[in-house]
Amino acid sequence: MPSHLTIAIDGPVASGKTVVGRAVARRLGIRFLDTGTMYRAFAWATLRRGIDPKDGSALAKLAKTLDMRLEGGSDGQRLLVDGEDTASHLRERDVEQAVSLVAAVSVVRAAMVALQRKVALEGPLVMVGRDIGTVVLKDATLKVFLKASREVRATRRHEEQKTHGKEVNYDEVLAGLALRDKIDTERADSPLRPAEDAVEVDTDSLTVDQVVQRILELLKHR
Ligand code: CDP
Repeated sequence: MPSHLTIAIDGPVASGKTVVGRAVARRLGIRFLDTGTMYRAFAWATLRRGIDPKDGSALAKLAKTLDMRLEGGSDGQRLLVDGEDTASHLRERDVEQAVSLVAAVSVVRAAMVALQRKVALEGPLVMVGRDIGTVVLKDATLKVFLKASREVRATRRHEEQKTHGKEVNYDEVLAGLALRDKIDTERADSPLRPAEDAVEVDTDSLTVDQVVQRILELLKHR
């Protein structure tokens, strides 16, 4: 486990982890790792190979052989699979539908967690995901669990998708989010839940800046 500064931020779909985590990392001048992108890239690789996201043994084989690498920049990084930048594929609809299924498979998680821990050993960072405080960085300097009501999260994600020019309706976003929440919280391996020593922050009525401020305040007391 790293002895330098590590901040673990977990929370459900569209709770603000990524935007908040990236801003905290920038304010502190440390690296940022969004672990959701790794599960998304894995799901994309699965679909590209024509593997059924419910086929556990094919996923296990892929988890052992897939060439997934992170190439760092100061603000985030490029995630390469088989040498190809995955960024433009990670929010595709079929990836969105498959990601929680592949993320529930233990051998997939083991491969992703190993890579995440390796990155964490390289220096101070903010890491965001579902199991960072409970599994990946159990000794993190600070653990935060972001919460928000389902409707607020669906509205945020809907707005985000509209900004990216995607034609989606609110009910579809809400249903997709509810399904991913269900799979993420009910899976046997590393279910989504706050670590016992995590500080829970309800973001329903807070701006991104306010959440960032709160995390920086909490950090002062560590
Ligand atoms: O951005 P959003 O909240 O929609 O999702 P994400 O953080 O990109 O994560 C996508 C999916 O990957 C989640 O719904 C989980 O199924 C899975 N995931 C996980 O299992 N563990 C993590 N540490 C991060 C993501």
